[in-house]
Amino acid sequence: MKADEVLIAHHDVLRGLLRELAGTTGAELGRREELRDRLLRELEIHTQIEDELFYPAVVDVSPLLALAHAEHRQIDDQLATVMRLPVDDPDFGAEVRMLEKTLRHHTMEEEERMFPQSHSLGEARLEELGEQLRERQRELAASGGMRLVMRLKRATLRVTKA
Ligand SMILES: [Fe+2]
Ligand SMILES: [Fe+2]
Repeated sequence: MKADEVLIAHHDVLRGLLRELAGTTGAELGRREELRDRLLRELEIHTQIEDELFYPAVVDVSPLLALAHAEHRQIDDQLATVMRLPVDDPDFGAEVRMLEKTLRHHTMEEEERMFPQSHSLGEARLEELGEQLRERQRELAASGGMRLVMRLKRATLRVTKA
């Protein structure tokens, strides 16, 4: 799989999770918690593999890097807001929909503008990069390191909330 195909497949996962989460009500607390945890995990993995591997690889062929990094920070901030809210908070749905909107915009921009620019790296490089992305994705999904990051992040969010 080429790098852009790996990332688009993961975008579909993220968009699906956000759509599902946005479709829940304040009466489905367990479901909301579960979807939110999965979203946090997948979003962390996604921004990490892009920041570590994909963005540095396209730095010479895409002028959109600064914008993309700024959007990752915005997504991170909005995710933090969603993590901080109790799942039965009346604003929960609205915050999720705002995050969904930002993520849709960002992923669309990558798919329609940045990924086509990345094609100038050539097929072989994109295949190689795709393999690296998938391997790192698997590694992060399986690693205790990732779980630690998540625990720390949630602990930090709890402290910030108080
Ligand atoms: Fe991104
Ligand atoms: Fe992405």
